[in-house]
Amino acid sequence: MQLTSCLVWAGALVGSVVFDSETGFTFSEFKVAYSLTANIAFRVAVPAAAQSGQPYDVVYQVVVPNQVGWAGIAFGGSMTYNPLLVGWANGQQTQTSTRWATAHSQPTIYNQATLQKLTTGNRVNGTHWQFTGKCTGCTSWANRSGGKTTLNPKGTNRLALVISNSKPQQPSNPSSNLVMHENPIYWSQSFTEGSNANFDELVRKNGGTVTSGNSTSETPTSETPSSGTPQ
Ligand code: HEM
Repeated sequence: MQLTSCLVWAGALVGSVVFDSETGFTFSEFKVAYSLTANIAFRVAVPAAAQSGQPYDVVYQVVVPNQVGWAGIAFGGSMTYNPLLVGWANGQQTQTSTRWATAHSQPTIYNQATLQKLTTGNRVNGTHWQFTGKCTGCTSWANRSGGKTTLNPKGTNRLALVISNSKPQQPSNPSSNLVMHENPIYWSQSFTEGSNANFDELVRKNGGTVTSGNSTSETPTSETPSSGTPQ
């Protein structure tokens, strides 16, 4: 049984909090049955210091059965006018691509969201592939009416998941054309439950770079003009 038919399985849709000992992040998790023996999981970690109405980085993790051709998360819960994060397995590597659509047709590359793959939490094994990365630009975007939509860091946000049973046409190319997906699944993901007080520290620990001061415990570093004196 595949994802489309699982839509009737309301009991298969589960949200919870998981601590990932590999990366140290606490994630809010949404899990859905793909088949009788395989699940798809989407997890998000949010800086505790994120402010409502302001953009912030998130770390997200997806775990997807190898039979899935590509999987995509729509951060605003629709196909159009919101960041689309697409991923697939390319041999033993994971490949991701950020996209944007203004219609129900092939989405284009979206450069206003950038994904940084972390040095941990990424693998392809005999059953699943897993991607862990930091997204800058996934929580705030220009919406259809020209205003700004920002995801609530202290509440829930409605997201959508789609999968396709076919691989992208060129799996090694992040800009590859995608093959049409199955019916979407929607849910409300708790961002509060994915709150991490030491978000920046964990990003660094897992090989990522910190783009802004996301942690309460840290003051953002700023470049001071050189005085000419060696430090
Ligand atoms: C080959 C590329 C794609 C094509 C041709 C395509 C086409 C479509 C079509 C025709 C629908 C309407 C289905 C219906 O009303 O029954 C739809 C809905 C949807 N698609 Fe796609 N899609 C593509 C890629 C994507 C990607 C990459 C994502 C997300 C990562 C996505 C997310 C959604 C969602 C969430 C919906 C339902 C909500 C809405 O209609 O806005 N699609 N798509």
